[in-house]
Amino acid sequence: MAFFERVPRATDAADAATTAATSLLPDPEGPGRVLAAVDRIEGARWADPLIKPLRGVVRRLPPPTRDVLHGRWLGHPVHPALVQVPLGTWTSAALLDLIPGKGRGAGALIAVGLVSAAPAAVAGLADWADLRKPQARVGLVHAAANSAAIACYAASLVARLRGRRLRGRALGFAGLTSATVGGALGGHLAYRQAAGANHAEQVAAVVEPGWHLLGSLSEFPVGTPVVRVVSGVPVMVLREPDDVVRVIADRCSHMAGPLSEGEIADGCVTCPWHGSVFRLSDGWNIRGPATAPQPVFETRVTTGRVMARLPGETKEL
Ligand code: FES
Repeated sequence: MAFFERVPRATDAADAATTAATSLLPDPEGPGRVLAAVDRIEGARWADPLIKPLRGVVRRLPPPTRDVLHGRWLGHPVHPALVQVPLGTWTSAALLDLIPGKGRGAGALIAVGLVSAAPAAVAGLADWADLRKPQARVGLVHAAANSAAIACYAASLVARLRGRRLRGRALGFAGLTSATVGGALGGHLAYRQAAGANHAEQVAAVVEPGWHLLGSLSEFPVGTPVVRVVSGVPVMVLREPDDVVRVIADRCSHMAGPLSEGEIADGCVTCPWHGSVFRLSDGWNIRGPATAPQPVFETRVTTGRVMARLPGETKEL
């Protein structure tokens, strides 16, 4: 070694570890490696030939069955609630696997997780079938990671039943790793790509309180939806034959589809994107996949001028 050659220090290893860890974190100058990798999945068109036929199968389920799976009865998607059981039991099994003599309990937890994974997967599949393509691509990888977790846990259970505990534990930890990746992708879908979120939730926070002028009654032909903008929020205005005027937020609570381009029938509007049906009088989602109702406005016609306001006197921020 040359006399002046730098001698590696213990802190070099720490610096390298810190650099590696921070490279995974968001970079203020742009996406970190993890986010960049997930962004690449969003644009993975190679997955599209798989997505189309699988979607077709799910969409052939009867609408009432799909509504149950979407969680319309619950008011939000049911899939995130159902995944708590397999994730909880599998995490608990991993902890038990670290404690000597607790292998039997871990096997029972894994079995419960496997049984509970089935309804969670079916509900997730129903939601996935109505996602936009970038979301559906991430959802496909999310499902693949979770399927790998299920396969690992099934093999782990078989190994445990055959008395091969070490193999059973190794497969259990592999399953937990896959489930964690799947869960992280599910979080990306829900929080970054807003899959399953209520896309009309912000309306009450954005629209200024009080009456808003929409135009004169003659600007609204009977039975034909017209779009107006209230405090920056597009609304669909529909004049009914008896001159009752309905005003409903135009962007669908499911995925922001334009309701004004949908079909009007029987006092309801059907979203043109995925077929959610909303009652015009109160915004209730009488058919999914929307799990949240649509904001509706109170209306009045004064001296031929149409006015609308959201119920409630103040904005709650
Ligand atoms: S955007 Fe999906 S049903 Fe309206």
